[in-house]
Formats: sequence, structure tokens, C-alpha cells
Amino acid sequence: MILYKNKLLPEHEVPVSYQDRGYNFGDGVYEVFRIYQGVLYGKQAHFRRLERSAAEIRLQLPYPIEEIDHKLEELVRLEQVSDGTLYMQITRGVAPRAHVFPLSAEPVLMAFCTKVERPLKLIHEGITAITLPDIRWLRCDIKSLNLLPNVMAKQQAAEQGAGEAIMHRDGIVTECSASNIMIVKNGVIYTHPINHLILPGITRAVVLKLASESSTPIREEAFSLEDLFAADEVFVTGTTMEVTPVVKVNQRIIGNGAVGPVTQRLQAAFERTIGR
Ligand code: PDD
Repeated sequence: MILYKNKLLPEHEVPVSYQDRGYNFGDGVYEVFRIYQGVLYGKQAHFRRLERSAAEIRLQLPYPIEEIDHKLEELVRLEQVSDGTLYMQITRGVAPRAHVFPLSAEPVLMAFCTKVERPLKLIHEGITAITLPDIRWLRCDIKSLNLLPNVMAKQQAAEQGAGEAIMHRDGIVTECSASNIMIVKNGVIYTHPINHLILPGITRAVVLKLASESSTPIREEAFSLEDLFAADEVFVTGTTMEVTPVVKVNQRIIGNGAVGPVTQRLQAAFERTIGR
């Protein structure tokens, strides 16, 4: 079933319009939630971020968050997804194509669930990554539907046999195509501060909280490509990737090439938060 506006519909009955501004302009915002054992993980944090993204693009949510919450729970229950994801987007609605905001369009919410297993092999063995210039706009803090640079980056990574693309602005690492990035050097975790250049990841926040609970020093400071290559450990965080180690970047081995102790500790702590 698909949640369309506030109705649960079979897929073939979803009346997506050719004039939906999400479709024409990428004019909308989205969230990806993780479902663990039938429960939406970090739900309130995702709702807060959704509200913020919508406010930043001056999009009024079509329903109160409590009603959206209720509908998403119904969707998850109906779909009987144990481990998976829930994708939700809200567009500015349907109107004749014109850049200026329509006067009376009703924002369109759409959501669906997908069964997805945890990427355990990648979590245990790590991934390789490539680096690319971050060519995105200057409001990467908004979870907007405009993902073309992210799509291009991930595609380039995939074509080179890599699992993620690490992006940088003039040699300063920001984040990845679909995840945040952290490095460990001499026991200290470094990650880009929350500002307009990165998405404030929900998993990033969980991991930083877990790190501080275990007294691991954290510096929310920008780091360079040189710092990245010289790091003892590198890992990415995200709703679908959880805490995934990066063991090689541009064919260069990170640390000793194995998943490092700080990463392993955080992975174990993260697993406890999802009841594993
Ligand atoms: N992506 N940075 C970017 C650019 C992202 O697209 C994502 C998530 C993250 C991690 O955020 P979080 O921990 O809240 O998932 C960071 C989602 C999963 C996606 O677009 O599929």
C-alpha cells in the first residue's frame, strides 16, 4: 500500500499528477526512516527534521505531525515490515508549471515501505569510497528532493566499484552522497559541524551521543582530504548504512585496512539502541 495524501491506496490507484511540483521542480522535502522489528527508529527526530526542512522552503505541512505519525504507523502495520525503510516525501502540490509558488495548491504527502535487511556484510567488512568535489547548493541542511548531485556522485562511486562517494569543498570534507562521515585520529572523532553544508543526520546525532556516553573525545570540526587519508579509522553514518566502516579511499588503505576499535565500539553501542 501507498500512503497518498491521507489515504492508504494500492499502488496502481495512486493518482500522481504530471503537474506535481515534486515531479516538475523537485519542489519538496523528504525523510527516510529505518524500521527495526516493525518499529520506526528515531521517529521524533525525523519529524523534527521534516518540520524544519519544510519551514526552510516555506512549505506548510498538509497535516499536523500527530496525524502524519498516525498514518505512517498504520502503513507500517499494514505492510507488516519487520526490517526495512519507510520513505516519505511532501511536495508543494499540483499546479500549472510556473516557478513562483502556486496560490492555492495543497501539499502532497506520499509514503511507502520497503523490506530491507541490515547491510551486515558491509558493516562488518567495510566499504571502499572515492572522493569527489561537492557540487551541491549551499543549503545541504535541507532534506530536499533535489538529489541530482548526490545521484551523480553515487553513480560515479558505483562505476568505480566503490560503496560511497565522499564529497569535499576545496579539500574540506563535508559529507557523503547519502551519509555523514567521521574520522578517528589518535582516539578523537572528527566530523563536520552542523551548518548549511551538510545534512544534520539522525544517525550522526545518535553516534555522537553514544561516543560521548563512552567518553570518546569528539571534535565537530571540518577536516581536510589529507586528514581523511591520514586517519586511523573512517566510517560513515546513515539511516540505511548505520555505522559502516570505510577501509579504502581512492585505492588508498585507511589505517591498517581493518575495521578499527573505535568504529567497532560504536557499532556495538549502536546495535544496542536497535535492540540487537
Ligand atoms: N540519506 N547526508 C546525506 C546527503 C544523506 O542523504 C543522508 C541520508 C545522510 C544521513 O542522514 P540520516 O542519518 O538521518 O539518515 C547524510 C537517506 C538515507 C537517503 O537519501 O536515502
